[in-house]
Amino acid sequence: MEHKRILVTAALPYANGPVHIGHLAGCYLPADIYTRYQRAQKRDVKLICGTDEHGVPITIRAQKEGTTPQAIVDKYHAIISESFKDMGINFDIFSRTSNQIHHETSQAFFKKLYDAGLFEEKESEQFYDEVNGQFLADRYIQGTCPICENPNAYGDQCEKCGSTLSPDQLINPRSALSSVQLVKRPTKHWYFPLNNYEGWLKEWIVEGKKDYWKPNVYGQCKSWIDSGLNPRAMTRDSNWGVPVPLPGAEGKVLYVWFDAPIGYISATKELTNQWSDYWCSEDTKLVHFIGKDNIVFHCIIFPAMLKAHGGFVLPENVPANEFLNIEGEKVSTSRNWAVWVHEYVKDFPDQQDLLRYVLCANAPESKDNDFTWKDFQERVNSELVAVFGNLVNRAFVLMHKLCKGRVPAVHPDAITPEDLALIEAIKATKVSVENSIESYKFREGLSEVIDLARKGNKYLQECAPWSLAKTPEMAAENQAKIDNCINLCLQLSANLAIYINPFLPFTAKKMCKMMKVVDRMLEWENGGRTDLLKTSYPLPAPELLFRKIEDAEVEAQVEKLRKNLVNNMNQAPAPTEAAKEPEIAPVKPVITIDDFMKIDLRVGTIISAEKVEKADKLLKLQLDMGFETRTVVSGIAMHFKPEDIIGKQVTVVANLAPRKMKGIESNGMILMAQNSDGSLKFVSPLETADNGSEVR
Ligand code: MF3
Ligand code: ZN
Repeated sequence: MEHKRILVTAALPYANGPVHIGHLAGCYLPADIYTRYQRAQKRDVKLICGTDEHGVPITIRAQKEGTTPQAIVDKYHAIISESFKDMGINFDIFSRTSNQIHHETSQAFFKKLYDAGLFEEKESEQFYDEVNGQFLADRYIQGTCPICENPNAYGDQCEKCGSTLSPDQLINPRSALSSVQLVKRPTKHWYFPLNNYEGWLKEWIVEGKKDYWKPNVYGQCKSWIDSGLNPRAMTRDSNWGVPVPLPGAEGKVLYVWFDAPIGYISATKELTNQWSDYWCSEDTKLVHFIGKDNIVFHCIIFPAMLKAHGGFVLPENVPANEFLNIEGEKVSTSRNWAVWVHEYVKDFPDQQDLLRYVLCANAPESKDNDFTWKDFQERVNSELVAVFGNLVNRAFVLMHKLCKGRVPAVHPDAITPEDLALIEAIKATKVSVENSIESYKFREGLSEVIDLARKGNKYLQECAPWSLAKTPEMAAENQAKIDNCINLCLQLSANLAIYINPFLPFTAKKMCKMMKVVDRMLEWENGGRTDLLKTSYPLPAPELLFRKIEDAEVEAQVEKLRKNLVNNMNQAPAPTEAAKEPEIAPVKPVITIDDFMKIDLRVGTIISAEKVEKADKLLKLQLDMGFETRTVVSGIAMHFKPEDIIGKQVTVVANLAPRKMKGIESNGMILMAQNSDGSLKFVSPLETADNGSEVR
């Protein structure tokens, strides 16, 4: 279906800290590229974002900084919005969920579901801190981990062993606020019966979006739906958030994952009176850009809420990205292992496009990826500087040398097959970049633009106009050929500006200035034309589009990361009797190298995981092996939740004879390390490797 308008959203970042480059790569940069492209196509498109200012993350941050939640959200809203602006992330609106209009909109949404009798009202026993006089969110409850005996585990997770927990599993639960022993008190909440939407979700996603949504997104949704849906509480006991709009609900607020996505609607209302054209008509294409930790909320819970409410368009696609690691390690904001956007902007003034380039060229589109400063340097120097920048620069320099600083005229009778081939390539790139962006393959789109510049360099090298003008006599004789070549290289530069514009808007602007054309030239429909620059028009000397990154700069950045790393190791739990010697299994009898070489070990990525019916221990996994997708049944269901392992890279025994388990054919085995307490750890490459690569 052709859509009349496109509504693009980017996840609302929590206003509890600045944004880092993982956030950019995860959703803001792809959302910006996509909308810039659509704007260049002159389509009716809006990009909506803002800060998510409610929920536990904010109150925890306030506590850490010894201030109020309001002060926190004010501070970080300003910092975050500045970072986005600096990086050229061009939102149509960057709003806040603390705004009046959002409180009203989310309360009205809740009220409508309530009045329709859609919520289940349930009373349950929750942990209560009698010193502070409040119910506690899971994160505020601490106690001993039932799995590793860490005495400082949280009610939602043990950070030592990584287990996902619920407060009831903790031994001796206490308040993280007051350290007091907790008591249980009854409290009433409103539950959204997600289970009633199971049939619809199966039809809409499992059947409807198969082979259409990205495999990482589809796989996570499917395993969530297949593992069964339960009613979820949509309210919380807290004094920070959107108050529940019902009598007798004092001290209760909307659950942050209820109100935040409605923030997309509130922000659109704030942006335009025509907001309902975007949200309430079938010919809107709604696209949510998010990171993978937000998938179930955007693909399952929010759509079910919209469906329950009625009258709203549902997301057409949710092109979620995986995570970006830094120098081979997972980003950790608490340990300060991150590259902060506001610091990059300070350290590399006016070099936003270098970061945009690297984050897009290396985007974690289908699996977790690694950002390293070395790779940043290499890509900038060998792709942006040596290929793209070089072509544009040479075209200008040669024009000044061989064509008196003016765009030379074309001589039709001197056109060569090489000229025609390059003209074809310019046209073909328009189509292929279009296809890539429309299907959310931004890395692919960007590399097509660079490839075109590479073809331009090759063309210029082969034509070698400088060698045709070695003497004045030669120059006179060859002028037609020289003119055609330089003209084409300049027209190619104009096309490169159009194609690179969604990705590197600062560069495109700079190129327009150099070519003395108005920004309107960048409209997408101009792509493929070779008459964009008027002949005999004098152009200035070129400015360098990109600068090289020196070794010292990237070394300083790596040094900075290591220096700022907060070392949490000295917060290790007090030794308990759990610190007993681990039992080590004896080493098996010796084998020869030939024995070992029979085993074909490969790297693969888990793209979907689901429980196997009537088998407590088994998970059915789909692995992207690079050369194929295969099914492996693995006995790890007691240790991992399916949704937590999607996207992980693992090592696979690839040539194990197939085996049927519970009627499913398993083709291989996943390597796991087993600790003496029985817990399992994946044996994965430390840094992301290619799927299908051999392990030896
Ligand atoms: N604040 C959430 C996060 O950073 C994302 C919220 S997206 C929205 O993970 F849809 F809820 F707004
Ligand atoms: Zn633990």
